[in-house]
Amino acid sequence: MDIPSGYDQYAFIAELYDQVVPYRERADVAFFVEAAREAGSPVLEVGCGTGRVLIPTARAGLEVVGLDLSPNMLGVCRQKLKDEPAAVQSRVQLVQADMRNFELGHLFTLATIPFRPFQHLLTVEDQLACLASVRRHLVDGGALILDIFNPSLDFLVNRPVGEELGEEPEFSTPDGRRVTRLHKTVVCDRVNQVNDFELIYYVTHPDGRKERLAHAFSLRYLFRFEAEHLLARAGFEVEHLYADYDKSAYGSKYPGELLFVARKTGV
Ligand SMILES: C[S@@+](CC[C@H](N)C(=O)[O-])C[C@H]1O[C@@H](n2cnc3c(N)ncnc32)[C@H](O)[C@@H]1O
Repeated sequence: MDIPSGYDQYAFIAELYDQVVPYRERADVAFFVEAAREAGSPVLEVGCGTGRVLIPTARAGLEVVGLDLSPNMLGVCRQKLKDEPAAVQSRVQLVQADMRNFELGHLFTLATIPFRPFQHLLTVEDQLACLASVRRHLVDGGALILDIFNPSLDFLVNRPVGEELGEEPEFSTPDGRRVTRLHKTVVCDRVNQVNDFELIYYVTHPDGRKERLAHAFSLRYLFRFEAEHLLARAGFEVEHLYADYDKSAYGSKYPGELLFVARKTGV
């Protein structure tokens, strides 16, 4: 099975993930924890990665199953869980599986896909397969929170291709490496709505040695009504569409997010 997200291409991706400043400071955790509290246990997080959202959810008292395809990302999550109290650990179950086709043998009140894992699915067939797998795992009346970015028209037209760009703050690792990260659009395929990106990590080791590491991956962007039609086709009804994790209404900021709360319908 191909892994289009590239998360297991190299171990450094999972190793550095939690230290990347825009990830550390991402303002989405409270939104997902509150949604889980409102829904109640058990919650399924699809594409849980290193547990950035999953661990705070378990700390809030929820039982949560985290599913991810990447053994490296799950490995970091497992390692972090070891530092948590036994009660938190006991509320978490991690499963290595592909979001396009999984069978967990449980039903959930809520499924979430935080921070764009869904956009690693590059075909409508894969998107529908994922939504069908999620839907099969929801109780009647259960909900899905689908979190994708709202494609910026300006960026789609004017995005510089082939240039390394970025203004992220430098970060340090516990063993003293200093890391600056840039990003590059490699291919902008407007026909298939797929962009190929590279995240490039420039690492300076404590002994002065320098290293360049690249994480290559593709993302498919979806427009608002395309996503709504997709959800309807998969048996979900959109209850809320937010532009941000503070629940601002879609359209109140641009480009913002496409943050769907969708209820499983009876069809
Ligand atoms: C940007 S990370 C998001 C991780 C986490 N949700 C967060 O908010 O920090 C994307 C995650 O999606 C996972 N992923 C990509 N394709 C997947 C697939 N087909 N099935 C399951 N997980 C997948 C990757 O392994 C990675 O952990």
